[in-house]
Amino acid sequence: MMALQDIAGDNQIIPRDRAWLENLFAQGNRVFGVTDDDGILVAQAILRLNTAAPKGLSRVFDDTALACISCVLVNPNQRGRGLMGHLLEACLDAARKDGQQEIIARVKVGNDASLNNFLKRDFTIVAIGPSPEDPDRIVHSLRLSL
Ligand SMILES: CC(C)(COP(=O)(O)OP(=O)(O)OC[C@H]1O[C@@H](n2cnc3c(N)ncnc32)[C@H](O)[C@@H]1OP(=O)(O)O)[C@@H](O)C(=O)NCCC(=O)NCCS
Repeated sequence: MMALQDIAGDNQIIPRDRAWLENLFAQGNRVFGVTDDDGILVAQAILRLNTAAPKGLSRVFDDTALACISCVLVNPNQRGRGLMGHLLEACLDAARKDGQQEIIARVKVGNDASLNNFLKRDFTIVAIGPSPEDPDRIVHSLRLSL
C-alpha cells in the first residue's frame, strides 16, 4: 500500500504511514485490493467498521453501526477501467454482511471522478466543509444507509 501511494503521488488522499496502517488493521479493519498479473497492488480501498461518528453527527449516528470507506487509490496507469467502482461494491457488500447500518466517506471538492463513483452508488452529500483530519482540505461528506 505504501508503494502504491508513492507511485500515485496524489494529493487527493491524505498520505498514511506504515504505523497508521498497522494500527488500523490491528483493530480489525479491512482493505480491499486489486492486483495485476504480477501480483502487484494496483488499486486499494480501506473499509473501517464500527467507527466513531464524525464530530457534530454523533447524535445522528448514536447507537448506529457506522462504517467508513477511505484511502481509495488506483494506480494512474489503471484508471478509468472501473476499478474504483469494483472496490466500492466490495466495501458495501462486506459492510452489509458485517451488519453495519450506515456508511460514510469524504471526497475532496473538485475530485469528480471519485465523487461521481460514490453518487452512482446512491451515496448522498450531507455536508461540504473542512476535513476533520486536515482543515485545509475542503471535502464533501457522503453517507449511505445500508
Ligand atoms: C478517483 C479514482 C480512485 C478513480 O479510480 P478509477 O478506477 O479510475 O475509477 P472508475 O474507473 O471506477 O470510475 C471512474 C468514473 O469516473 C468518471 N471519471 C473519470 N475521470 C473523471 C473526471 N475527471 N471527472 C468526472 N468523472 C470522471 C469515469 O467516467 C467513470 O464513470 P463511469 O463509470 O460512469 O464511466 C482514481 O482516479 C484515483 O486513484 N485518484 C487519486 C486518488 C483519489 O482521488 N482517491 C479518492 C479519494 S476520495
